[in-house]
Amino acid sequence: MKQFEYFKRFSVIIITGGSSGIGCSIIKAIRKIAPDVQMCNLSRSNPDIFLGDNGKHYPVDLSDAQALAEAAEALKARIDFAREGEVLLVNNSGFGDYGRFPDMEIGKQLTMIDLNVRAVVDLSARLLPAILPRGGTIVTIASTAAFQPTPYLTTYGATKAFVRNWSLALGEDLRGTKVRTLAVCPGPTRSNFFKAAGFDTPPMDQGANQGLDMTSDEVAAHTLRAIAKERSLIVTGWKNRLITFFGSQLPLLVVTQISASILRKMRLEKHKAAK
Ligand SMILES: NC(=O)c1ccc[n+]([C@@H]2O[C@H](COP(=O)([O-])OP(=O)(O)OC[C@H]3O[C@@H](n4cnc5c(N)ncnc54)[C@H](OP(=O)(O)O)[C@@H]3O)[C@@H](O)[C@H]2O)c1
Repeated sequence: MKQFEYFKRFSVIIITGGSSGIGCSIIKAIRKIAPDVQMCNLSRSNPDIFLGDNGKHYPVDLSDAQALAEAAEALKARIDFAREGEVLLVNNSGFGDYGRFPDMEIGKQLTMIDLNVRAVVDLSARLLPAILPRGGTIVTIASTAAFQPTPYLTTYGATKAFVRNWSLALGEDLRGTKVRTLAVCPGPTRSNFFKAAGFDTPPMDQGANQGLDMTSDEVAAHTLRAIAKERSLIVTGWKNRLITFFGSQLPLLVVTQISASILRKMRLEKHKAAK
């Protein structure tokens, strides 16, 4: 079925982290094929793009449990009052932090767990009672970092492994209902991610991960295709798929050491200073 036809089923779309990068590209791509949908964005800053006449930006720090709970109440009311149709929830907000544990700021690591893990579980749990009677899709943006331990991005990789597995398992919990799940695993993507994670230069501009990087628009296009095909897990791009496949054939300890030697080379000043 064409994406245009498929997306007609959604009356409300809720996305976290639409103010930049992959989230912003997903909003742009959906607006092209479903301009009338109620597009709701949750992030701390306002997205620079028009959310549509029916759209609404909820300014919220999702690492704050109380703020998340209040936003979820407002969203539930919005779902209840919306025209008939399914709900698409995209759990996308997230950040990483590069360096040698525990040299980095522990508070930032804990906020990362709150945002990348707790907020995904909490928001989905709070909205599911409103989504279940209508049906819909819960998309969670994980990462290729979810497939093996990621030294120097130690906590980040673990949060992504959590949400990848959680999304797949949730899909089974919801079997027999009208709600599907999709875990999206992008490889290196050009966005604000690397700056926020403390990289001096994004890996793709250091000559690392050559040919693996994608634009956020490309990741959004893969995501929309996967939603319309009702897939439960995707790794974006054949090169990323090949790497995650071969990585998964190796003993975990070996793949951890390979991952360490690649990530160690990313030459963060902070990391060099810690040596
Ligand atoms: N870029 C990559 O290489 C890559 C690869 C694989 C997976 N991913 C994942 O893709 C997702 C999107 O990242 P991106 O690459 O698009 O990076 P990005 O451009 O930095 O976008 C991150 C988004 O998360 C939001 N966010 C951050 N902290 C937040 C908070 N406390 N509360 C609410 N929203 C918050 C940001 O909005 P505000 O700052 O306005 O709050 C922003 O919209 C993340 O989950 C990331 O882990 C990225």
